[in-house]
Amino acid sequence: MIRIDSVTKRYPDGTVAVDRLSLDIPDRSITVLVGPSGCGKTTTLRMINRMVDLSEGTISLDGADITKQPVNTLRRSMGYVIQNAGLFQHRTIVDNIATVPRMLGWGKEKARARATELMERVGLDASLAKRYPYQLSGGQQQRVGVARALAADPPVLLMDEPFSAVDPVVRKGLQDELLRLQEELGKTIVFVTHDIDEAIKLGTMVAVLRTGGKLAQFAPPAELLSDPADAFVEDFLGADRGIRRLSFFSSAGLDLKTSPIVAVDSTAEQIAERTTPGVPYLLVTDLDGRPLGWSEPGALTAGAVDTARLLAYGRPFAAGKDSLRAALDGSVLSPTGWAVGVDDTGRVVGVVSQQAVGEAIRSAHAAVRPDAKAVG
Ligand SMILES: Nc1ncnc2c1ncn2[C@@H]1O[C@H](COP(=O)(O)OP(=O)(O)OP(=O)(O)O)[C@@H](O)[C@H]1O
Ligand SMILES: [Mg+2]
Repeated sequence: MIRIDSVTKRYPDGTVAVDRLSLDIPDRSITVLVGPSGCGKTTTLRMINRMVDLSEGTISLDGADITKQPVNTLRRSMGYVIQNAGLFQHRTIVDNIATVPRMLGWGKEKARARATELMERVGLDASLAKRYPYQLSGGQQQRVGVARALAADPPVLLMDEPFSAVDPVVRKGLQDELLRLQEELGKTIVFVTHDIDEAIKLGTMVAVLRTGGKLAQFAPPAELLSDPADAFVEDFLGADRGIRRLSFFSSAGLDLKTSPIVAVDSTAEQIAERTTPGVPYLLVTDLDGRPLGWSEPGALTAGAVDTARLLAYGRPFAAGKDSLRAALDGSVLSPTGWAVGVDDTGRVVGVVSQQAVGEAIRSAHAAVRPDAKAVG
């Protein structure tokens, strides 16, 4: 565990970048530092690997004061990843990744073999090994940065806004990759970002800092969303806090209805039988049970529904797997106000009204604490 105990950083010009910060960073999980620009995130990260000397307080790694151990030994136990990857431009990808092992005295072949293995780990094609960084996309370079930091297999990874220079789609891919890697490798990761969505998605614990390097709140993301410590944290979480929080509630408890569903070849009797008072629409599925669209019962032609005239069904949610946020989104996107729940194969398992989603949200809030991890 990394323990930051009452740490202050005063730069020579008098700037207090970090002010009596205390954080217990748990092992083998991702701790995110988030906060506005200039709040001391980078300074905190760099004090952990002693690229910046702290002014007061102590930082310890597994109980040992970091200032009491040789700085090289300390840094070897901590990979460091920065924005734009910070690659050596005159070295090939494979040699970039092999940098630290080579510094540690590994032979060339062994270091390259390790680099090749890591390229695969982080989702880089082996054909890129001989290229130079400028011949890679931003997302690929970022992956190289992660691979390089992992090369000597350090227990700790320090990541300073590693994904902020890439577009949202690539960023999402890199985030998913990091979560997958973390499951596989179980590193202790300290991750800096100013993007609250990234913090919520990646963090097991999230530290919100305010300007002046003061800790505003340190909590799991679900708790941050349900119980922000003060107006600053609430403001930082933004206007969608309530909606975001729904990501932590499963759709498993939703009362899915199977009655207002008809197959595309339904007879007049079947349509009549499926028509329920108070439910103005029927969901039409293909013969495999996949959704096609909504219709008022009276507008359906028995035996062969005209699918071109159906109303869109929005975006279906994976019933029981996706969160209430996904179910709500599905119902909001649907012109009928009903969301479609599907199974792994995309077949309809039931439909649910906006009103029923609303009831599920209220009872989820009233019941227990939200799940520790977002469910999608
Ligand atoms: N070498 C330095 N000398 C003096 N002040 C510094 C130095 N480095 C950083 N600072 C100041 O310390 C404060 C915290 O800086 P830091 O880089 O840690 O912020 P940050 O949270 O990482 O910001 P950003 O989100 O913009 O990266 C800022 O006010 C910054 O101007
Ligand atoms: Mg910074």
